[in-house]
Amino acid sequence: MTKIRNSKRYNLVLGIETSCDETAAAVTSEGHTILSNVVWSQVTIHHPYGGVVPELASRKHMEKIVPVVETALAMAGVDANSIDGVAVTCGPGLVGALLVGVSFAKAFAYARGLPLTGVNHVHGHIAAIYLQPDPPPFPFVALLASGGHTNLYYVTEPMEFEHMGQTRDDAAGEAFDKVAKVLGLGYPGGQIIDELSQKGDPEQIHFPRVFLDKTGFDFSFSGIKTAVARYVSAEKEKMSEFPDIAAAFQEAVVDVLVQKGISAARAKACEHLALVGGVASNRRLRELMTKAADEAGIAVHIPGPELCTDNAAMIATMGYHQLSEGKNAPLDLDVYSKTKHSGRLGVVR
Ligand code: KG4
Ligand code: ZN
Repeated sequence: MTKIRNSKRYNLVLGIETSCDETAAAVTSEGHTILSNVVWSQVTIHHPYGGVVPELASRKHMEKIVPVVETALAMAGVDANSIDGVAVTCGPGLVGALLVGVSFAKAFAYARGLPLTGVNHVHGHIAAIYLQPDPPPFPFVALLASGGHTNLYYVTEPMEFEHMGQTRDDAAGEAFDKVAKVLGLGYPGGQIIDELSQKGDPEQIHFPRVFLDKTGFDFSFSGIKTAVARYVSAEKEKMSEFPDIAAAFQEAVVDVLVQKGISAARAKACEHLALVGGVASNRRLRELMTKAADEAGIAVHIPGPELCTDNAAMIATMGYHQLSEGKNAPLDLDVYSKTKHSGRLGVVR
């Protein structure tokens, strides 16, 4: 592919993210400095239902998108007219929710004659690492663990992703959410289990680690959720054991993520590993990945917790790279619910 680098500079990029249950807007400068990063979480809206209700999510995004963008511009201290480009998440995610952000972004860009670019949410999570003071040099291996994805990529350039592996069933974050539900701890589960695990002993119970093919890079997390559910139904009365169950479950998931992440970096003879996505905010995962990477002579890069979970700064940063490479979106930019991988190299959208 011939690359024509755009001669125009995109200093200030407005990022917009509405793929799930966070209404988020951010302004970044030069693709690496955050001027503002506003996230309006809908957690309390969806909490009573034990998960995200798509229709409610879309409605809340409609209500919040304008004030959230206004706040992001004000906090960045920039006028809407000084923005150089607009980046918006166009998938994967909830279609109704995505449409709110994409429609807003189109109108904002069109009204000001600004270039628009549609960002894949997964690429956005990886781009969060460019917002760190010491980002990894290319190439690096990226392990993305979120509520919707558990993927491994070999990233050779900001827009070149070689897909190495993915979960065959539940995503790592999904396993956290489902286990929290089994334990009656509420939604979203990741942070609650992270907290509860602090009081538990991970050695008291052993849950299975599923590595599938030892040399491959696919994951499977549905079995562990079933194992926890079985354990809980057999030991119903022992509420006092919940911190141990949480800690043992967390340890099992973390163990698999750490081992696969390190072996993926080794397989590529790569000295840099980025750990991104909502689950990357997990304290135990951060601790054990750092330790294992140190032992393996690999530099691990993890964004701050607020840049691991959904935000718009990561979208603005990915958008900055796309705009710089001339990947502008037409005004009929559409949304999509799932990413399609095209072969091993690159992602279709
Ligand atoms: O990246 P993200 O904000 O949204 C998606 O793109 O899915 O990730 C959300 C997921 C949820 O499943 C949530 O339970 C999990 O990340 N998560 C955590 C933690 N914080 C969020 N999982 C484990 N430990 C945490 N501290
Ligand atoms: Zn996400």
